[in-house]
Amino acid sequence: MARIGAALVTAAGLLAVLLVVVTDAVATPSDDRQAELIHRVKHDCGSCHGLTMKGGLGPPLLPARLADRSDGDLMEVILDGVPGTPMPPWRGELSEDEARWIVRALKEGLEP
Ligand code: HEC
Repeated sequence: MARIGAALVTAAGLLAVLLVVVTDAVATPSDDRQAELIHRVKHDCGSCHGLTMKGGLGPPLLPARLADRSDGDLMEVILDGVPGTPMPPWRGELSEDEARWIVRALKEGLEP
């Protein structure tokens, strides 16, 4: 009986580790893709928001300004754009995971 219990605990532990590994792999773009995304944010998004995200045609996307906005809200703006403004939708170009990753990168602040 104790042996079955121990086996179950081990199995549950392994499953938890596996789940963490799998979800992490799905949510985080590969290192190469991260480099591409940073390049894109600086150049494509930077053409309106400024190369250093300090704003231009679009508002600044600096950590202090984004801190109290929810990730989901900002992801929606990036994926669907803001109709009636120059902010275009990026769905199709960026996956949801990638948009989430960009939101987190912007909240942490991009390296200049
Ligand atoms: C053609 C110009 C343009 C490009 C390119 C552009 N944006 Fe925008 N963006 C805007 C404008 C203008 C707004 C403000 C819309 C409004 O009035 O609410 C905006 C708003 C936003 C907001 C919401 C900011 C806030 O304070 O509400 C985020 C986040 C954002 N853009 C991210 C991005 C990202 C990430 C990219 C690149 C993938 C990008 N934008 C590319 C023009 C642009």
